[in-house]
Amino acid sequence: MRTILFTGKGGVGKTTIAAATGLKIAENGKRCLIISTDPAHSLSDSFDVKIGPDPVEIAKNLYGQEIDVQFELERYWGEIKNYISALFRSQGVDDIIAEELAILPGFDELASLLYLHKYSGEDEFDTIILDCAPTGETLRLLSFPEMARWYMERFFGLERKILKIVRPVAESIARVPMPTDEVMDSIESLYTKLSEIKTLLESEETTIRLVCTPEKMVIKETQRAYTYLNLFGYNVDLLVVNRVFPELDNDFLGKWKEIQQRYIGIIEESFSIPMKTVRFYSREVVGIPLLTNLAEELYGDEDPEKVYTSEKPIRIYREGKHHILSIRLPFISREEVDVMARGEELIITTGNWKRILYLPHVLWGKEPVKARYRDETLEIKFEEIRED
Ligand SMILES: Nc1ncnc2c1ncn2[C@@H]1O[C@H](COP(=O)(O)OP(=O)(O)OP(=O)(O)O)[C@@H](O)[C@H]1O
Ligand SMILES: [Mg+2]
Repeated sequence: MRTILFTGKGGVGKTTIAAATGLKIAENGKRCLIISTDPAHSLSDSFDVKIGPDPVEIAKNLYGQEIDVQFELERYWGEIKNYISALFRSQGVDDIIAEELAILPGFDELASLLYLHKYSGEDEFDTIILDCAPTGETLRLLSFPEMARWYMERFFGLERKILKIVRPVAESIARVPMPTDEVMDSIESLYTKLSEIKTLLESEETTIRLVCTPEKMVIKETQRAYTYLNLFGYNVDLLVVNRVFPELDNDFLGKWKEIQQRYIGIIEESFSIPMKTVRFYSREVVGIPLLTNLAEELYGDEDPEKVYTSEKPIRIYREGKHHILSIRLPFISREEVDVMARGEELIITTGNWKRILYLPHVLWGKEPVKARYRDETLEIKFEEIRED
């Protein structure tokens, strides 16, 4: 099952681009489902069709679903949540606060992932498109499987058999409720699903597409998301630059056009993935005819499902006391390269070509001390890590 996730800063056109992509895939004869994971659903608005918590047919082969997060969580997570809140309550935590505390971090992201898991085990759809929430939440969503497993292992790392024996004793001594069989069942099943979801997200059939606009603040957030997605090992295969002004015969807008062109230049320097642009329409892009038009502009004769690139160009790892950042840069040689760190950014220049990279937190303010080039990859060594 091909899965494509769309994310980007708030308001840049994620839902619009996701909807247009889904339309084109369905037109090509694939059964495609678009799931909206954003609590502020706008899929209905985009298609101008009422969409509900179960898949609704929008056009031939095209379905949409807007998840009711609260409802799904009660269904899948209810048992576990009740147990955790009982645990807090037993420690004298106030009722309402216990309920709140029982919501684990990233909790509300779980529902859409569980759906993805469900559909991957069925034959109802060929392609799933996730219209995600803005980048910050999407990063949380994508780190959720790993994080939840970490929590579960620590919270519930108890052997079941032991639990059966110790439960009555432990409860009377420690005055702490022990998880019941139902809770353990829920946890086990969730644990298995999360592992499978992680495998699914990292598989070659899953790619992430970033949507942005040619504006400073948007680019920054998109660069950041791109770096982190690479670090998490996800495959970002396409960047869509939306709302690009066409040639304009107008002083005011002409200036804007120049500004946009400058930012498009920066975008080209910041991402090592294929990029496509979509023009600024003279009105909101809603309804099937306009979305079809946009999809045509975006993909033309190409298959929108194709994996545009399967490279994960950036890697960061530790070697002894140093962090090494490696970035794939074919066609250059070490001699020509200049590397400079500036706060959150790393600037790599060679001849008349430049690449700006958003650094992850651990490398902020760290000086690059050495660079070496091998196998078409530039490896940059950063100053020694201080362990204190
Ligand atoms: N290329 C475009 N030209 C003109 N209008 C556009 C374009 N792309 C998107 N829009 C309009 O901009 C508005 C916001 O788009 P959309 O809802 O797709 O953004 P989003 O990134 O999903 O927002 P959110 O972060 O709120 O989910 C919509 O009204 C949409 O029709
Ligand atoms: Mg949206």
